[in-house]
Amino acid sequence: QANLVSIDQLTADEAVDLIHEAQDFKAGKQVQLLKPAYAMNLFFEDSTRTKTSFQMAEKKLGMQVLDFNAATSSVNKGESLYDTLRTIEEIGVNIAVIRHPKNEYYQDLVENPNLKIGIANAGDGSGQHPSQCLLDMMTIQEQFGHVKGLKVLINGDIFHSRVARSNAEMLSRLGAEVYFSGPEKWFDAKLERYGKFGDFEELLPHMDVINILRVQHERLSGSANSDFDEHTYRDKFGITASRIQKMKSDAIILHPAPVNRGVEIDDDLVESPHSKIFTQMKNGVFVRMAILSSILRYQKLL
Ligand code: CP
Repeated sequence: QANLVSIDQLTADEAVDLIHEAQDFKAGKQVQLLKPAYAMNLFFEDSTRTKTSFQMAEKKLGMQVLDFNAATSSVNKGESLYDTLRTIEEIGVNIAVIRHPKNEYYQDLVENPNLKIGIANAGDGSGQHPSQCLLDMMTIQEQFGHVKGLKVLINGDIFHSRVARSNAEMLSRLGAEVYFSGPEKWFDAKLERYGKFGDFEELLPHMDVINILRVQHERLSGSANSDFDEHTYRDKFGITASRIQKMKSDAIILHPAPVNRGVEIDDDLVESPHSKIFTQMKNGVFVRMAILSSILRYQKLL
């Protein structure tokens, strides 16, 4: 496809195809570019995992990776995102991977017929995080062999979470039962169409997947941040040893990371057997290879 900006673009079958290709890459599949291909990673918000794993995916596919530093770019002189992309396209970049604080920053760009560069959304504000969603689906698929029929709980700072929005949509498309929990003031009623909001303690023992979310201090208002107490949060909504005891024996814990250790999950449980947090990071490289491959195929570069 030309771009991957939102998980809404993908049918269940298309998502499964991308996950299968990611699994093939994980098993060692190699590809050969038809022509030289160039990627640029434009991150206007901080990132460790997404940026590094897109870079790794680009290099593993044989792409050339060009440097972009948002802080020293001409965006700081007022240049628009459109002009930035139009410029790097003319210079020869084939795919732009973009993270931006503005929700749906991509909408005008993908609708503009003058812009041919491929766009992979690496996260927009509280909107979408399609590559994180697909790596989460891949991690679930690896554990259970399917997603359909699983009970998945999304717990925590749902309101500010692009992961919650993308995952709720794709989990529903793939036939999972979605539930939500966490502080009620951080729920987004628009997500009720995917599943019910309930009590964390009551839901926990019945779940196959517990997708905990980072408390996004950078998106909380000043008063919400000063009112936040991490001990209270951990006591009510954190993964602790006693809560692990109540989970199904094969249930898994996902977290997009970075993790606030001791808040969303206790420090010593981040790498416990139920936790797939570092597996998610590994799978991120292969999912991003699959996403980039689909854009490269559309551009007849693969
Ligand atoms: N999960 C995730 O998007 O992590 P980064 O912000 O480090 O990219």
